[in-house]
Amino acid sequence: MKKENLIKQYKAIYKKAPTHIIRAPGRINLIGEHTDYNGGFVLPIAIDSYTNMLVSKNDDKKVRLYDLKYNENDEFHLDNIKPLKQKKWSNYQCGIAKVLLDAGYKIGGLDILIFSEVPEGAGLSSSASIEIATLLSFKELYDLEIKPLEMIKLARKAENNFVGVECGIMDQFASLLSKEGNALFIDCRSLKYKYVTLSFMGYSFFVCNSMVKRELVESSYNKRRKDCKYALRAFHKILPRIGALRDISIEDFMKYGGLLSKKSRRRVEHIVYENERVKQAVEVLKNRNAKAFGELMYQSHLSLKELYEVSTEELDLLVEIGKDEPGVLGARLTGAGFGGCVIYLVKDSCVEKLKEKILDVYSKKTGLVPQFYEVVPSKGAYAELNGNR
Ligand code: GLA
Repeated sequence: MKKENLIKQYKAIYKKAPTHIIRAPGRINLIGEHTDYNGGFVLPIAIDSYTNMLVSKNDDKKVRLYDLKYNENDEFHLDNIKPLKQKKWSNYQCGIAKVLLDAGYKIGGLDILIFSEVPEGAGLSSSASIEIATLLSFKELYDLEIKPLEMIKLARKAENNFVGVECGIMDQFASLLSKEGNALFIDCRSLKYKYVTLSFMGYSFFVCNSMVKRELVESSYNKRRKDCKYALRAFHKILPRIGALRDISIEDFMKYGGLLSKKSRRRVEHIVYENERVKQAVEVLKNRNAKAFGELMYQSHLSLKELYEVSTEELDLLVEIGKDEPGVLGARLTGAGFGGCVIYLVKDSCVEKLKEKILDVYSKKTGLVPQFYEVVPSKGAYAELNGNR
């Protein structure tokens, strides 16, 4: 929807103009899955789909919300914030207000209109983009002195406490700090990060949504986190210097992995080698070696399927289709798994044929109609003043 239209809708709802327009993108992860909450490495990029928030202040200490996706409104008072049971969508804003207040930031009321372009339930971090957009709204309108890393940590805390997903830090990080044309390499323990230019001449990333809704994602995701905690405890007994699964080297794993239970061994093996793949991916990206990058993607998918067990038949099918198509160098599920999207690395001139093939084979086998998104590595969240008041 165009900016002018959104402003019109805002005026119709709130009888005033918004002072700011805040935009925060969704993300895809190129490689490094389920490593973030194990203190490891990830390599996401922001996509050209944003959650847009039009905002202005109010003096009532209330946060009023209207979400165009649901055509619903809601509101809460800053003196009385509780997780809302029925209208789950506004828990994100409640969560952000609560973590800011708890951290001692002085905030007041906001009148917000939300229009998100990020598809929901597709593993493209629509939640993180809403959290970051809400946080940036408070920051901009109430002049909060808050550093980017602090924003990211608070947004994650809101998701953990209010929405109930014990997510890692990658999505909020990518939504806030991504840079156009670049991937973002993050060390999720030290929170140090660096940008890596994306320049596989003639090849690009491209996303296919399996359209499998990730109904159980929250509980399954939290289960994987528990598996990791359990495996960490076991490994720590063997090697006390291990403080996170990230600390386990390939040599450690080869030496001591056999002492773990079968399930723990599978989980740990994924994390150990996936971290290694992210480091290699950064190198091959720098060397513009698209073929090697594609190989790492296939390896990552196989590991997510067989060791971490977060893939689905549909995601596997999408990856297999890629393997047989000329011009496709790699494919893997992106995000938490259990449904959502597959990302391909494909020669520009072969994208159309790949789409046709997917539409044909995938739709016939599953009865689902997949959706495609072009990937434009985009910039992280930003605020604009509304000049048209
Ligand atoms: C979700 C979480 C992230 C990360 C990925 C898996 O997107 O929000 O923190 O754990 O799953 O890599």
